[in-house]
Amino acid sequence: MYKAKAYSAASATSPLASSTISRRDPTEQDVQMEILFCGICHSDLHQVRNEWREVMPTVYPCVPGHEIVGRVTKVGSGVTKFKVGDLGAVGCVVDSDRTCPECQAGLEQFCPNLTLTYNFPDKHLGGVTYGGYSDSIVVDQRFVVHVPANLSPAGAAPLLCAGITTYSPMRHWGVTKGKKVGVVGLGGLGHMGVKFAHALGAHVVVFTTSPNKKDDAIRLGADEVVVSRNANEMQKHASSFDFILDAVSADHDINAYLNLLRRDGTVCLVGAPEKPLGVAAFGLLFGRRSLAGSPIGGLKETQEMLEFCGKNNITSDVEIIPIQKVNEAYERLLKSDVKYRFSIDMASLRSE
Ligand SMILES: NC(=O)c1ccc[n+]([C@@H]2O[C@H](COP(=O)([O-])OP(=O)(O)OC[C@H]3O[C@@H](n4cnc5c(N)ncnc54)[C@H](OP(=O)(O)O)[C@@H]3O)[C@@H](O)[C@H]2O)c1
Ligand SMILES: [Zn+2]
Ligand SMILES: [Zn+2]
Repeated sequence: MYKAKAYSAASATSPLASSTISRRDPTEQDVQMEILFCGICHSDLHQVRNEWREVMPTVYPCVPGHEIVGRVTKVGSGVTKFKVGDLGAVGCVVDSDRTCPECQAGLEQFCPNLTLTYNFPDKHLGGVTYGGYSDSIVVDQRFVVHVPANLSPAGAAPLLCAGITTYSPMRHWGVTKGKKVGVVGLGGLGHMGVKFAHALGAHVVVFTTSPNKKDDAIRLGADEVVVSRNANEMQKHASSFDFILDAVSADHDINAYLNLLRRDGTVCLVGAPEKPLGVAAFGLLFGRRSLAGSPIGGLKETQEMLEFCGKNNITSDVEIIPIQKVNEAYERLLKSDVKYRFSIDMASLRSE
């Protein structure tokens, strides 16, 4: 065991603050990394503030962070995938049973025995796992992926959650040329959704509550932008979408989007608001529409997504911040004031 620096929350109402945590010494299959950048996902905020108490109650202290890019500093004797000095990346999952049908299919996100990167029982040290708001991390090589050399580490970090969470459902529901695709909420996930839908050749429409994001939406790859609070603009798109990705972090009217689907279309939730959403039956019945959801993605698809980003030069648009600004960044997330992901430069923690 060794001591690592981290930012942790002591309770649902405490700000994140500097602290020390224990990490395991790398075992045979482990990769130890010095963390270079960690993205700030809205899930970090939900978890720190215990907004998901009914499904995943938060254990304190809580060290969030699951969009991690780091430099390998040590490898166990059985590690073949990485050597010291390589770049490595870790997303939302750091372990699974590897034997269940889901794991065998490369869909670790559905493993009944998975270990998430933070706030999950730590099988090595007891207590819970601690995430990437830290100067280092130790993870089994199977759960560490390679970052293409042409991508900037700061902009690549958010691919590990915002990237895979939007790429995976787009692949699953067949987003491609000739499809009309909506993306709701131009935040961290949403802006990656726009980049992927555009790169996959779809006609992309962004739905935003922030009129000041219109130009950015087009620059990111949208063909059209709709201010969702404008009923007339919404009505113009009635019954026309094949697929809509809903990446909104707060309570909102999902029926408005179900009504925009054509026959057999799908609204896929990736956003995970604190409170349940109300669904009107007729929005689904008329048009045989589907409301679906999708969590993150498996290791195989995460590596595939990173290769796709390497080939298409896709990274997240990031605002790089020092860790000391993390609490301020959370307040800005709540105001939809992020363009379009905060990426923490972890050198700022090392110098603390
Ligand atoms: N499924 C998964 O595996 C998974 C993975 C990661 C994150 N998530 C969840 O996905 C959600 C989004 O995460 P994120 O990191 O992208 O968050 P984010 O960067 O804060 O973006 C959320 C966006 O939602 C829109 N929005 C916020 N409040 C709204 C409201 N009251 N009504 C309508 N729109 C609103 C805003 O976009 P506009 O300004 O454009 O309206 C905002 O930028 C969170 O709930 C997060 O926990 C799920
Ligand atoms: Zn996330
Ligand atoms: Zn499994």
